[in-house]
Amino acid sequence: MDKFVVRGGNPLLGTIKVSGAKNSALPCMAAAILTEDEVILENIPQVQDIETERKLLTSMGAEVQLGYGRAQHRTHIKCAILSDPVAKYEIVKTMRASSLVLGPLIARTGIARVAMPGGCAIGGRPIDLHIKGLEAMGATITQDHGYLEARTDRLRGAHIVFDKITVTGTEDLLMAATLAEGETLFENCAREPEVTDLATLLIAMGANIEGAGTSTIRVQGVARLHGARHRINPDRIEAGTFLMAGAITGGDLNVDCCEPAHLGSLIAKLEQCGVRIDVGKDNIRVRSGGQLTASDITTEEYPGFPTDMQAQFMALATQAEGTTTVTENIFENRFMHVQELIRMGANITVSGRTATIRGKTSLQSAAVMCSDLRASASLVLAALVADGESILDRVYHMDRGYERLEEKLRGVGAQIRRMGDVFGKK
Ligand code: EPZ
Repeated sequence: MDKFVVRGGNPLLGTIKVSGAKNSALPCMAAAILTEDEVILENIPQVQDIETERKLLTSMGAEVQLGYGRAQHRTHIKCAILSDPVAKYEIVKTMRASSLVLGPLIARTGIARVAMPGGCAIGGRPIDLHIKGLEAMGATITQDHGYLEARTDRLRGAHIVFDKITVTGTEDLLMAATLAEGETLFENCAREPEVTDLATLLIAMGANIEGAGTSTIRVQGVARLHGARHRINPDRIEAGTFLMAGAITGGDLNVDCCEPAHLGSLIAKLEQCGVRIDVGKDNIRVRSGGQLTASDITTEEYPGFPTDMQAQFMALATQAEGTTTVTENIFENRFMHVQELIRMGANITVSGRTATIRGKTSLQSAAVMCSDLRASASLVLAALVADGESILDRVYHMDRGYERLEEKLRGVGAQIRRMGDVFGKK
């Protein structure tokens, strides 16, 4: 099992490039199910979750080519024949975002069998809102030995108000609605940029969608969709992670190939902490502004402070003068990084959904355990400023959503290397 070895103390200096957004690529790849034509996606990140999605689509009968290097991180997907519209548990259990194939499958074929995803480290992660929406659109959904079985002659338009704001729930049902008969009106939708990115692809495929990126989305169903070529958004969470890496190490880092407009809440927060930020057209420069000062965060749906950057911000807060409170509103168990940060010397207490971080504390290197994708990133940030050499175990969590992280960080001066088998060397 791979490990990272990180020696702290180096400020990050230079330019680091952001890859395509995993959380855009996953729904966009699933959208290819909606047509028998070829869909070409550019700027696909080379991360494990994308490989998992390739396996999933291939297992259903799709042709999927994943190119890297010269192929500019491009994928070609053709779902001409879906010979086996089943998302098998062996794959779904490794990536709960597999539930994103449910809506497209039922819309395209009238039948879908998708393994229930089960929970994960950060919470129960139910998909009841996906099911409720598909039933409102005329699907009959039954549960059978851990699988959801959905059937319909043809989905029909409906008025769907989400009880809770759900990103993949919005994406799953949006895809289903593109081929439903009549109009579907969605309210209380997720407004994340990944929803807008998916809608841009769907419209390029011939879908009739208005309002993506707002709370209200209106879809006029069409008979079929055709192929398209689409470039995936830059990964705002990876970009935010790099901004915090530059800030925590007191460096001077240019985060390139990103979309600053997607990072408004983090940029504002970092400036409140005393970090110097210069925003360009598709890059952001982060520099130390002297001693970091504490500033509270509460995670909210977009455009609020993202839950996917909460763990990384907590690491940064250990280096800020004063007391920071971090309140996690989205997931019920997203403080798995806290105990590991405490083992490195952080002063953190947790009460319910709020963690209190007292800084500034000098962090000591330690052997720590990664538990989920973003908690892992938090431990990397802490190790970059800890005194000595830290060992981070189970970095496969990071490989799910960060492309060549250790290479990118080494390129701007971090002392970080991977031990063990090399992940997916192409
Ligand atoms: C997406 O997960 C992201 N994953 C997550 O990123 C991200 O943390 C999350 O949105 C919130 O921004 C992908 O896009 C692949 P939700 P998703 O449905 O869609 C509850 C990462 O690190 N809920 O918006 O699964 C749910 O339990 C990952 O890249 C229901 O109750 O999250 C949670 O409390 C981690 N019923 C809240 O809604 C449902 O049917 C928000 O979840 C669906 C969700």
